[in-house]
Amino acid sequence: MNKSQFPVDFAWGAATSAYQVEGAAFADGKGPSIWDSFSHTPGKTDGGDHGDIACDHYHRLETDLDLIAELGLNAYRFSISWPRVQPDGKGKWNQSGLDFYDRLIDGLLKRGIAPHVTLYHWDLPQALQDDGGWNNRATCYRFAEYACKLAEHFGDRVAAIATHNEPFVASMLGNLFGIHAPGNNDPQLASQVAHHLLLSHGLAVQSMRKVTQVPLGIVLNLSPCTAATASLGDQQDAKRRFDFVGRFFLDPLLRGAYPESELLVPLPQMEAGDLELIRLPIDFLGINYYFREWCSTDTPPIPAPCLQGVSEMGWEVYPEGLYELLTQLERDYELPPVYISENGMACADTVSADGAIHDPRRIAYIEQHLDALSRAMGEGVSVRGYFHWSLMDNFEWAKGYSMRFGLIHIDYQTQQRTFKDSALWYRDYIQRERFGAKQKEAML
Ligand code: FCB
Repeated sequence: MNKSQFPVDFAWGAATSAYQVEGAAFADGKGPSIWDSFSHTPGKTDGGDHGDIACDHYHRLETDLDLIAELGLNAYRFSISWPRVQPDGKGKWNQSGLDFYDRLIDGLLKRGIAPHVTLYHWDLPQALQDDGGWNNRATCYRFAEYACKLAEHFGDRVAAIATHNEPFVASMLGNLFGIHAPGNNDPQLASQVAHHLLLSHGLAVQSMRKVTQVPLGIVLNLSPCTAATASLGDQQDAKRRFDFVGRFFLDPLLRGAYPESELLVPLPQMEAGDLELIRLPIDFLGINYYFREWCSTDTPPIPAPCLQGVSEMGWEVYPEGLYELLTQLERDYELPPVYISENGMACADTVSADGAIHDPRRIAYIEQHLDALSRAMGEGVSVRGYFHWSLMDNFEWAKGYSMRFGLIHIDYQTQQRTFKDSALWYRDYIQRERFGAKQKEAML
């Protein structure tokens, strides 16, 4: 009996980002990024952790590619480190950096794995930050040049290009809450950065369309926002929160306007034509889903009995939220095809006496989220793929190495890689689904 829910060409993947896994932070001509500076500033990350070595993926590329293939993944999402390929973010290109990504892309293709590229996962060249970073409109034009160069370089070899990862997090955690690089606390600045990230996305789409046919999109972090009680105050709070986290990015991208609501930040300064650029058609929307947000005007906002269990990050595990979110977006927007570009949980994983890493909670997490996803697809949401966060344990930003999100366990002393139980489970799940989907197709 064939129960497969997912189409035959569904992308089964896992995701990483450059700064979190590559290491080699100052090797072979790479320039410093804002995350190199931030993580080396005392007090900014747990334990003073930084990405100098991380998973040493830069030097262990072939091993890691083999592991991806062993998992039976047919897609892999990774990001390009801008300062590795263009150390100052403008001018000169770094050939060794381009070579590294060529080896990565060609190595994936050789193994039958589709490369899904993200151009910006938060590691802005420090040289651009010194000129004002994303607060400076000129950075948007530098980003479009960088995007165009890369699209020219490998646009014929990759499956998809996303411009930005989570502009909400990059702008707000970096510039309003100050807990990510570059570490500012300024509402006006944060809003301007958000606008410039979106504008740079539009300019990049415009420039890349001229040189490649590859599907182009952007990745947003989205959460359903749930009122803690039926009170008017809590309902309004939930709406305000979604306006800020979701609509502040979705509306300009998909409707060409910022929401008219009271946000945590003022509206940015814009120039004529900006919104037209931001709303240029995209071929896909990447959605990173981790948790729902409970909203209330009271503190504490989360009624404890409501929580279904939390991860090590303190994030609620709520698979149904993925279904709620996708069906809500489908109702409210003209949605392009969607990828779930990240979804996963941090667990307190340990290596057992038998040498294995038993992570039953992660297995349940993936299974339940895939179930919610297939139900949303059954109701008409067009989803092209699922990327688990993450392929391997890595540098979790301000939390350093204390959070383990990987399917693959990393021993940071020895750099030994070990499949967790969840990796083997995910491998078998994918194999069953792909086999079932092929059988189903053959029967039609
Ligand atoms: C997302 C980031 C990703 C990772 C996960 C846990 O916000 O895109 O790099 O840190 O959270």
